Amino acid sequence: MMEQSEPKFEKYVFVCVNERAGGERVSCGGTFCGKELSEKLKEAVKTAGKAGSIRVSKSKCLDVCEEGANVLIYPDNLWLSHAELADIPAILAKLGIQP
Ligand code: FES
Repeated sequence: MMEQSEPKFEKYVFVCVNERAGGERVSCGGTFCGKELSEKLKEAVKTAGKAGSIRVSKSKCLDVCEEGANVLIYPDNLWLSHAELADIPAILAKLGIQP
């Protein structure tokens, strides 16, 4: 039976890493930097000692592919589009992590 409980983490960061075959619609993981962004954000959160409270999760398509790479932060309800690796410090700042 389904149970309801409080989220385990304070924040969830969903980074789209979806890939598509060539010739199809663009994708965060295939066209843009979604995969590397996900990995580097996860590393940075861990380095900051926040891995126990902030969960960086890989996401499949969020259906705004042309605006990739896309990052969604809950419970803040922040949608970050056109995210690049150079934006990592700004994303961390939105998570309350200062470099
Ligand atoms: S592939 Fe990332 S939003 Fe569609």
